[in-house]
Amino acid sequence: MSARAAGPTSAATGRTAVAQTAQASAASAAGLQAARPGSAPAIDVRGVTKAFSGKVVVNNLSLRVEKGEIFGFLGPNGSGKTTFIRMLCGLLRPDAGAGTCLGLDLTRDAERIKTRVGYMAQRFSLYGDLSVRENLDFMARVYGVPERREAVERMIDRMGLGRFAGQLAQNLSGGWKQRLALAASLIHGPELLLLDEPTAGVDPKARRDFWDEVHELAGQGLTALISTHYMDEAERCHRLAYIAYGDLLVQGTVEEVVAGRGLATWEATGGDLYALARDVRPLPGVEQVAHFGNTLHVSGPDPALLERSLAPLRGGAWSFARVPTSLEEVFISLMDQSLKGKKP
Ligand SMILES: Nc1ncnc2c1ncn2[C@@H]1O[C@H](COP(=O)(O)OP(=O)(O)O)[C@@H](O)[C@H]1O
Ligand SMILES: [Mg+2]
Repeated sequence: MSARAAGPTSAATGRTAVAQTAQASAASAAGLQAARPGSAPAIDVRGVTKAFSGKVVVNNLSLRVEKGEIFGFLGPNGSGKTTFIRMLCGLLRPDAGAGTCLGLDLTRDAERIKTRVGYMAQRFSLYGDLSVRENLDFMARVYGVPERREAVERMIDRMGLGRFAGQLAQNLSGGWKQRLALAASLIHGPELLLLDEPTAGVDPKARRDFWDEVHELAGQGLTALISTHYMDEAERCHRLAYIAYGDLLVQGTVEEVVAGRGLATWEATGGDLYALARDVRPLPGVEQVAHFGNTLHVSGPDPALLERSLAPLRGGAWSFARVPTSLEEVFISLMDQSLKGKKP
């Protein structure tokens, strides 16, 4: 789990690379920056594109995130989320595109951007063989945080890490490791947090605590862009974007994203739901069929067509009720569409 063991191409290297150029950030270390109402967006980029070995993995992506906003970044594995986040924090140079991060030019001011963002890499990138306190002290040193010892103790207190302060990071549970990583990304008083799947594999209580903390920080004016696969976390964001295989397919509030897709969903109960699932899958207008405990959800893009297809089944062994379409159903629909579009 140590950054050194993770090797030179890992996220850990990136995490430290951000920190190493951050000596100049000392001035902002005293506290979190307050958002100024009506001020410039925290992130405002257009047409950002990146290819690896000729394969485009982030395609012409435009995104605007306001100051103080918690912005969710969702999409299947391999869709370019990490690559995009690394471009935002100055670790990777875009092949094309332009814009600003914290009002600084994405390519020209990459070094200055690094000093003002807190980046939490997808993989745990702190030192497993250092204690919690030593890890925070190390990061504070790298960033040139003034009154370092006091700043570290304040962060330990504020993140509730006190009882683990002397413990090796590698011996922490997943949830506490993530909390330590969040503390480390905050130690220099960044204005923008870029959190890459910060809660993957973390239990529900620790995830809730983590999100409470992020909201608390947003309340103090910090902006956060967070990638996640969890639908409940997506719903905790002020706005979100869905990216599939390099393309940004949709962005907005949860309500806007769900309404924008226009899916209709019916919930069936009673009878043999496995038999029902087999029967409805091939019907016209049926796009998704999914079991939820003792119910079956059937969704499709054309409400009238779906209703016509289900009509002959009503009044039989099953009851049907129209229910709100969930974010998960919308994302699966978007992903299926994206995959179809990619087929030769
Ligand atoms: N340094 C790299 N060199 C070559 N290919 C890469 C590199 N980083 C990422 N990729 C590829 O780019 C695509 C997007 O990856 P990534 O940004 O990690 O997606 P996500 O975070 O959404 O899972 C994947 O196909 C991945 O294999
Ligand atoms: Mg990733």
